[in-house]
Amino acid sequence: MKTVPINVQRGTAEETHLDTFEVPYRDGMSVLDALIWIRVNADPSLAFRYSCINANACKECVVKVDGKTEYACTARLTDGGVTVRPLSNKSLIRDLVAETAPPKERLAALLPGKS
Ligand code: FES
Repeated sequence: MKTVPINVQRGTAEETHLDTFEVPYRDGMSVLDALIWIRVNADPSLAFRYSCINANACKECVVKVDGKTEYACTARLTDGGVTVRPLSNKSLIRDLVAETAPPKERLAALLPGKS
């Protein structure tokens, strides 16, 4: 089976690096499909968000794909592979997860004495 290299930014705000995973390729698969494959088959610690799986409704999966802001669930994987990074204009939490919640909706803001 043909595989494609998926470069994924890993780490936290203190340190980041790229990990490369060889993912089985099939026509029409999304970048989210590749990330899910990596989490299930190669590295269960990979952090990324998604909720609706290819419905383009939740907007949780937004990342940078080859430098462009995209929804991972609708961005199609090419047979040359891709580089996936978190949003660059948001605080990095870990791997592909950036802080996207509005400040008043963050958990810390909802706790007593933390506003
Ligand atoms: S997973 Fe919901 S919009 Fe992408």
